[in-house]
Amino acid sequence: MALVEARELVKVFRRREREPGMAGAVRALVRRRSVEHIAVDHVELSIEEGEAVAYVGPNGAGKSTTVKLLSGILEPTSGEVRVGGLVPQRNRMAVAHDLGVLFGQRTQLWWDLPVSDSLGMLRDLYGVDRGTYARRMRRFDEVLQIAELMAVTGRKLSLGQRMRVDLAAALIHGPRVLYLDEPTIGLDLSVKDRVRAFLRELRDDGTTIMLTSHDLADIEDLCRRLVIIDRGRIIFDGDLGAVKDEFARERVLHLQTGSAVDAGAVRAALSGATVEPDAAPDRLTVRFDRFALTAGHVVNAVGRLVDVVDFRLDEPGIEDVIRRVYAGDIAFAGAGRGGTP
Ligand SMILES: Nc1ncnc2c1ncn2[C@@H]1O[C@H](COP(=O)(O)OP(=O)(O)O)[C@@H](O)[C@H]1O
Ligand SMILES: [Mg+2]
Repeated sequence: MALVEARELVKVFRRREREPGMAGAVRALVRRRSVEHIAVDHVELSIEEGEAVAYVGPNGAGKSTTVKLLSGILEPTSGEVRVGGLVPQRNRMAVAHDLGVLFGQRTQLWWDLPVSDSLGMLRDLYGVDRGTYARRMRRFDEVLQIAELMAVTGRKLSLGQRMRVDLAAALIHGPRVLYLDEPTIGLDLSVKDRVRAFLRELRDDGTTIMLTSHDLADIEDLCRRLVIIDRGRIIFDGDLGAVKDEFARERVLHLQTGSAVDAGAVRAALSGATVEPDAAPDRLTVRFDRFALTAGHVVNAVGRLVDVVDFRLDEPGIEDVIRRVYAGDIAFAGAGRGGTP
């Protein structure tokens, strides 16, 4: 059995809706209209031990709700979740030992306590012995530089500081599974890099990770598997590299040449590539399929016609692919386990 499983998982929220204006307000007193909103719609997911899964989707797609269901914070409307074979909603403490959860938008630190007390309480709650605790804290400090924050109260931490401490808090008990919901939101670049490196280490040590992030660099860095959710439904579940190979094959080379370059001559020399002249006569853009040509081949071909002074290569990003998925340009018929609904 997979380490994390969701079967036919559904979460329906009921929202009270009021009609506009005074009459609406009066009517709402008498007869409350409630509208159902399906935030998570028959989600099927199995995550194997040691996998790192990116869970991606537009705002309001149901990512955070899924994470809350998978961690037992929310009760599903129907369907079932299992973590390590146990239903987290019914076995809170047992599952809590296996699970670390970080919500970028929410803290698990106590607002009025110094960080050291918050972490100490979590240590006691999970029954982590002092030696293990000290060893883990040293490691967290190496990557996250949290020692300097120990005396600060939760409310005084900046967003970046809070996130670093929250990440340590989520990992204090050495969980097998880590859910990260927007873990780098609001972090500056240097902290982001450190957090990413740390997450890679955890993954390499065998921690199972499910990551939702708006920052697709987080995802490309960490995950091999991509799951896309849209309006509560999983529309794709498959290999991230395969998606890129299939849908982001184009590389773009920007060249600067020593003298004016003749786009027509380059075009003739590079069949299959798209050659775009620039307003500046010594600049040129070449788009090519990375399975048909190499960057070296393109540079050499241009170099035979004119001196190449400088060039820059743009790799395809997963952003582009995901944007096209949302826009409906890409239908994943049979491409992944999710397929199209
Ligand atoms: N507690 C709640 N009550 C009512 N609606 C909610 C609640 N939590 C989330 N929703 C709604 O469920 C949908 C999914 O939300 P969420 O899971 O937070 O999306 P995401 O994390 O992908 O941005 C949204 O339409 C959101 O407004
Ligand atoms: Mg969210």
